Amino acid sequence: MALKITVIGTGYLGATHAAAMAELGFEVLGLDVVPEKIDMLTRGEVPMYEPGLEDLLRRHVSGFEGSSGRLRFTMDFAEAGEFGDVHFVCVNTPQKHGEYGCDMSYVDAAFSSLAPHLKEGALVVGKSTVPVGSADRLTGLLPQHAELAWNPEFLREGFAVNDTLHPDRIVVGVNSDRAEELLREVYAKPLAEGTPFIVTDYPTAELVKTSANSFLATKISFINAMAEVCEAGGGDVAKLAEAIGYDERIGHKFLRAGIGFGGGCLPKDIRAFMARAGELGADQALTFLREIDSINMRRRGAMVEMAREALGGGAFLGKRVAVLGATFKPDSDDVRDSPALNVAGQIHLQGGQVTVYDPKGMDNARRVFPTLGYADSALDAVRGADIVLHLTEWREFRELDPAELAKVATSPVLLDGRNALDSSLWRAAGWTYRAMGRPSA
Ligand code: UDX
Repeated sequence: MALKITVIGTGYLGATHAAAMAELGFEVLGLDVVPEKIDMLTRGEVPMYEPGLEDLLRRHVSGFEGSSGRLRFTMDFAEAGEFGDVHFVCVNTPQKHGEYGCDMSYVDAAFSSLAPHLKEGALVVGKSTVPVGSADRLTGLLPQHAELAWNPEFLREGFAVNDTLHPDRIVVGVNSDRAEELLREVYAKPLAEGTPFIVTDYPTAELVKTSANSFLATKISFINAMAEVCEAGGGDVAKLAEAIGYDERIGHKFLRAGIGFGGGCLPKDIRAFMARAGELGADQALTFLREIDSINMRRRGAMVEMAREALGGGAFLGKRVAVLGATFKPDSDDVRDSPALNVAGQIHLQGGQVTVYDPKGMDNARRVFPTLGYADSALDAVRGADIVLHLTEWREFRELDPAELAKVATSPVLLDGRNALDSSLWRAAGWTYRAMGRPSA
């Protein structure tokens, strides 16, 4: 009989995983403790903006017209325990308040709530990003008749559906052949398509995720460090990145200099990784991540200073600053630790009159930064602006007509904090275009 699957936690990771499991043909029960989320998902609505996810969900949510009916949602752990053969735990592991470590309270709560209801032979699969050693500890929360595996998730926001249905690798940390077999059954389709399947122990599986994110963060901060040197020495970091990227050992990806990385993963994951290394007495191995973090945070301040300088070097007081972009990356409505909002907030706190526009992140931005000004379009944000900051590289901004914007801006000065706009187009339309890590003309 086909395996029945539950997914505990229906955020970015869980909602996408639940819908993807239904797409692979399984009966799926999604569980969350937030009633509003369950109501929305049951109505076929996704609580965040993620391209393609709503369509995928509606193809499978039970009771939705034309759906497979394979996907349902609940708040009841007893129902989940009775239903599932394999339980994926996909809850959030945020940064602890006021310190670097990882807050495991949601993971622990999910395990404790599920444990008393697990069937004989049930497999619990952790997907959340956790400090090394967590799986070993969590085994202690499960009954003898259940098993644990760790299966980190590498999906990117904005590409969550595709990354989940067509992962570039599947990593499983297991303690038994049976756990491996069950996971081979769950992932039979991607495995048949040739997806690499890496079977390992718990600590390695946990570390694959934190080290992958640390490597990505390192790549971004490396190129941003080169941007700092370019700014000092007169070089062009975009050309430099293009040139070094042709070396296949380096590659072109994740070498876009700008205001740096943000979001709900990279910043908190490198901090939690450092904190865990400290607990294990291996702090020295990861002290370089402190530098990665500080280069990253420095770039936000550098953007603020670049804006100040472009405005004549004085205070921001009385200056009108248009900010294009609020989310931490395009194709997402996520503003968690968003470099764009951080820059906008700093300028606002220094007296600048900031007006933000973002294609999808307005509601979330208003919630976390209610005192900033907001406009309904890029054109409205730019109207009357003394300077325009491009801080999240949405396609919509690349498709703007610089000539039209030049007509409404008080002063046509554009700072590209993402190195993503076509400088020649903007300059041809009369703009002073400057980008981070590149010469001014
Ligand atoms: C990341 C990992 O990529 C993913 O594998 C993991 O599962 C979760 O964390 P995500 O947070 O969605 O995914 O964003 P990502 O695409 O990695 O971008 C992170 C940040 O880095 C964004 O703020 C982005 O703007 C920035 N970035 C990315 C750069 O500044 N330069 C680059 O070249 C690439």
